[in-house]
Parts: sequence; structure tokens; C-alpha cells
Amino acid sequence: MSTLVTGVAGFIGMHTAKSLLSKGHHVVGIDNLNHYYDPRLKKARLTQLESFDEFSFLETDFATQSFVEEFTETHPQIDQVIHLGAQAGVRNSIDKPQDYMKSNLSGQLNILEYCRNLIEKNNNFKKLIYASSSSVYGANAKIPFSTNDRSDHPVSFYGATKKACEVMTHSYASLYKIPSIGLRFFTVYGPWGRPDMSPYLFTKSILDGEEINVFNNGNMRRDFTYIDDIVDGVIAALEKNLSDCANIAPHKIFNLGNNKPIKLMDYIRIIEKACSKKANLKLLPMQPGDVLETFADIEHSTEELGFSPKTNLDEGIPRFVEWFREYHK
Ligand SMILES: NC(=O)c1ccc[n+]([C@@H]2O[C@H](COP(=O)([O-])OP(=O)(O)OC[C@H]3O[C@@H](n4cnc5c(N)ncnc54)[C@H](O)[C@@H]3O)[C@@H](O)[C@H]2O)c1
Repeated sequence: MSTLVTGVAGFIGMHTAKSLLSKGHHVVGIDNLNHYYDPRLKKARLTQLESFDEFSFLETDFATQSFVEEFTETHPQIDQVIHLGAQAGVRNSIDKPQDYMKSNLSGQLNILEYCRNLIEKNNNFKKLIYASSSSVYGANAKIPFSTNDRSDHPVSFYGATKKACEVMTHSYASLYKIPSIGLRFFTVYGPWGRPDMSPYLFTKSILDGEEINVFNNGNMRRDFTYIDDIVDGVIAALEKNLSDCANIAPHKIFNLGNNKPIKLMDYIRIIEKACSKKANLKLLPMQPGDVLETFADIEHSTEELGFSPKTNLDEGIPRFVEWFREYHK
């Protein structure tokens, strides 16, 4: 089985590729190693994969106009695609919407076009899995967030691009019968995590004795999901049979969250405990584009994918802090 993983030098991409390689898959990974955050972390993640003989890496930008033709020419035999590459980050999408337009919208279209070409050339093509986000739920007041709820009023441009990815994919699944699954991730954390996300930012500030920015005075709740649970969900999605919806559009969307939201202040206490040090809190107002609460309804994902997150924050955060200390010496 030959799998393309986009965004392979990213947080979720690296862990997903590692899991597939450990199961004996052949993985082609692509990433443009952009500077949204320190590319040295991306390169260090890649070193985790380079020891596998079945791994190959190509530094390329999947959002350029020439990508589809060139990549189809060089890689016509891919069996399944896991599209995790994107411009991530809610707050940055306020300052740099063009980056999101390019990587998330042109990028998604290119990956869809590539899958369309693969279907035409390769009868064995199995599936496209792609990353969506809890951000599509915007300011939904009804919790937990269910895939049956409306998701057409995002409050960040990032969320808008992720919703657009879902509807673009639906049209391609309908037109070209590309079996596709979108996964709405809910705040993923763990070793090798992203430096723009709160587990990393808070741990760094606590260990350095710096102030932590706590938005909306801490009155927020987040559904944190440990990376290994997310990877299990991605692998389960690869195995999911979509024949029940094949006549319409072979496309389904699932929430991958922990289903156990935690108050921001309680979460900070867990990081303090793992760091054995008190945080210095700076209480701030709500940020534009942020939401008060994320809370995943995973009933549908449990039923159809067997998704059942196992790691709670009391276990996951110490593992993250241990990795952080080791990585940053
Ligand atoms: N981490 C989370 O909590 C979370 C939550 C919801 C959704 N997501 C989504 O999951 C996916 C993976 O997220 P992540 O946390 O691993 O992010 P990440 O930023 O660590 O990884 C994304 C990778 O994609 C690469 N990339 C971006 N644009 C590219 C392009 N045009 N061409 C080639 N490579 C490109 C980046 O260099 C990066 O290495 C993204 O789609 C993200 O939007 C993540």
C-alpha cells in the first residue's frame, strides 16, 4: 500500500506517517517546510521518519499551478492520500488570509485534481482522507458540536477555508466518485506539537518564568485530543467502507475530539504540575476569531470508525512536557 501524506513535516503529518511506516506501508511525504513556525522543528520531525526504508520525502508546494501535472507524472501509483498539509492557526488567519487562501483552497483543489487523475489512471485508488477542523462550527451555541449541526457560519477565516475544503471535496466526490473522508480535529496536542498552540506556548512561558496570555480572562473550555488518539482515528478512516453512500457522493465527515472539554484554568494547573512551576497569568479580553468552547460529539465517529480516545490530559500533558524539555535541552 503506497500512501501520500501531505504536510508530513507537520505535527499530525509526522505522527501519522510514522504510524503507517511502523505498519509496513510505503509512505511518500511532501511538505514545503514553510516558515509559519521554526522549520528546524519540521526538519527534526522528518529525522523521525528517515530511518524507515519505506519513506521518501519531497520538498514541494502543493498549492502551485504546476503541482498537479508534475506530481501526477512523477507519482501515478499512489493508492491513498492523507492530506494534512495546510496553513493552520486561527489567529494568524486574521493577519495573513492570503496564505490560507493559497495553501488551504488552491492546495485542496490541487489535491482533489491529483486524486481525480489517480482514479483515472489507477483502478486501485482507495481513498482521500483530509484534515478539517472544529473551527467550522464557529460560534455554535449548541454543544457538544455534532456533524449534524450547521457549520456554515465560521467566525475565523481559517474556519471558513476549512468549511470550503469540505464542500469542495463533496463536489469532487460526487463528480468523480473519489471516496473521501474529512476529519474535524479538535485541538490536538502531544510530543512534537506546534509552537503556535497553547500547550507549547504555556509550557515555554512557565519554564522561562514569562507571562502567559490568558484570553477571555480564562473563561473558555477546550476539547484537547492527544495525538495518538487522533492518529488512531486517521488510520480507522482509511479502513472505513463508504459503499453505503457511493451512489450519491462517497464522502463522509467525522469529528475527532476527546469529548471531554476542560476549563482553561484547570488545564493551566495540569501544565503547572507537569512543569513543577507556577504560571504567571496575564488576563486578557477575548481575541477576534476565537470561540468560547469546543466540545466534540463523537457518537457518530465511535459508531462508524470505532473511534474511542484513551488519553486524558493528566497523562498526555506530562508526556508533552517531557518531550519539550528534551527537545529544547
Ligand atoms: N493541530 C491541531 O490542533 C489541528 C486542529 C484542527 C485542524 N488541524 C488541521 O490538521 C492539519 C495538520 O495540522 P498540524 O497541527 O499538523 O499543522 P502543521 O502546521 O504542523 O502541519 C502542516 C504542514 O503543512 C505544510 N504545508 C503548509 N502549506 C503547504 C503547501 N502549500 N505545500 C506543502 N506543504 C505545506 C507545513 O509546512 C506544515 O509542515 C492541518 O490541515 C490543520 O489545519 C489541526
